Amino acid sequence: MKPEKLMQRAHEAAKNAYAPYSKFRVGAALEMGSGRIICGANVENRSYGLSNCAERTAIFTAIAMGERDIRAIAVAGPDSQEPLPPCGGCRQVISEFCGSETPLYYSDGNGAYLSSTVGEIYPANSLMDLARRANSV
Ligand code: THU
Repeated sequence: MKPEKLMQRAHEAAKNAYAPYSKFRVGAALEMGSGRIICGANVENRSYGLSNCAERTAIFTAIAMGERDIRAIAVAGPDSQEPLPPCGGCRQVISEFCGSETPLYYSDGNGAYLSSTVGEIYPANSLMDLARRANSV
């Protein structure tokens, strides 16, 4: 799928954000090997630390649906004036399920997007090797 299309899906997913505390909506869209697009949004909580980012919502949804083969990731932040790459925690979760070449697209804060790879935002991928071995569990 074209990056623009995947970003569009991430933007649509951001409409489902539950972000009454930060008022900062984020959507994520995953392109799966099956061809499915699996989306997520940030889900906040009155106990702030329990909030979940859009990226992790999408990944946990994919895994719970029995889908693990993530081919591309898009993250959209319609409320952001700055580039919106995944946070540190999400980078680690992404690294659990994605190879270093997996493309990543994220909002640039000006209505367009930037391109990267999982390896660029999370260079140490030893966790990925562990995850591969545990994949059948
Ligand atoms: N957030 C995401 O969902 N993804 C990101 O990449 C950055 C931050 C959410 C977490 C919180 O609900 C809100 O944005 C403000 O940080």
